[in-house]
Amino acid sequence: MKILSVVGARPQFVKLAAIADAAARRPDVEHVIVHTGQHYDAALSDVFFADLRIPAPDVNLAVGSSSHGRQTGAMLAAMDDVLEQHRPDWTLVYGDTNSTLAGTLAAVKLHLPVAHLEAGLRSFNRRMPEEHNRVLTDHAADLLLAPTEFARGHLAAEGLAARTLVIGDVMTDVCLRVARSAGDAAPRLPEGVDPAADYAVATLHRADNTDDPARLRALVEALHALPLPVALLAHPRLVAAAAAAGVELGGGAVHVSEPLTYPDLVHAVQRARAVVTDSGGLQKEAYLLGVPTTTVRTETEWVETLEDGWNRLAPEPGDLAAAVARPRPETERDAVYGDGHAAERAVDALRERAR
Ligand code: UD1
Repeated sequence: MKILSVVGARPQFVKLAAIADAAARRPDVEHVIVHTGQHYDAALSDVFFADLRIPAPDVNLAVGSSSHGRQTGAMLAAMDDVLEQHRPDWTLVYGDTNSTLAGTLAAVKLHLPVAHLEAGLRSFNRRMPEEHNRVLTDHAADLLLAPTEFARGHLAAEGLAARTLVIGDVMTDVCLRVARSAGDAAPRLPEGVDPAADYAVATLHRADNTDDPARLRALVEALHALPLPVALLAHPRLVAAAAAAGVELGGGAVHVSEPLTYPDLVHAVQRARAVVTDSGGLQKEAYLLGVPTTTVRTETEWVETLEDGWNRLAPEPGDLAAAVARPRPETERDAVYGDGHAAERAVDALRERAR
């Protein structure tokens, strides 16, 4: 049985790590990895393959960065030959990036079965490119591998219940495995942040936060004014947007570094007092690791994290200080994101349903 995974962006490499591992432990499964090249910087791509011991991609489409239409179109055009050559039993697409949508469209048009990992997430925010990517992918795919019961509910409401299977969240598999192996060494943080004292980990990369210079400036100033040191792990989009807007990212409480490797990120979050982010993956990782998170968005797809205040939405720069200063919730967190075996369930579901 042949599975062809299509990945391209940082969060997909984490999910791929779990799937590649589960596939490798089943001798009847051949796993082909196609990297679209959406992310190409070493810090956003290669280090994930190395640190998470993912086999090197079999194919790299090397599409690089461009406008949404050009980037998605370039992937779509390049996927035809790859799919014709491999004729997989399943094309497996991950999450909600442009690589997800391109992989899906290319496969369904060749009448090849598609499975969508992390199906059923919704923000209901139609300004987000990811919302369109995930809705279109769910409606085109043949098997919807949903992480949570909440996601199943969204799919059922859209008439997709018959194609849905809840398997848990594969990011939980990887996050908990990496957290267990962290050891006692101090986390790797930007210079100026003492790993032994309270600090916050921050990331911002969504267009809604980076692309309006006035909003970006207000958010960065709000981070500068936080009452604890902030390790700002800067995505290239943020660095580029700040340079274009003449906004200095470092200053005040903020100390800037490149994005961390996945093990270093998990380790840094484990020891943090707080997380400030607009990343879906990081909200959930912080929840799994028991660190209160402030999400710089008007909504979240991972609504379970909002329970008991583990995560709080703070879309306005003026909301940040109070949200970050709130006390750590005392409640236990439910295992809503699965038991760490989601990837095995995903691969077994594909094996059982192969032609
Ligand atoms: C993409 C995903 C987003 C995901 C994020 C994780 C879409 C629509 N968005 O957003 O869902 O949360 O990945 O990081 O697919 N760049 C580099 N080096 C790289 C890649 C990008 O410098 O290796 C810069 C380029 O200036 C590029 C910009 O970052 O134009 C944005 O990259 P892109 O892949 O289009 O989207 P992300 O913002 O990373």
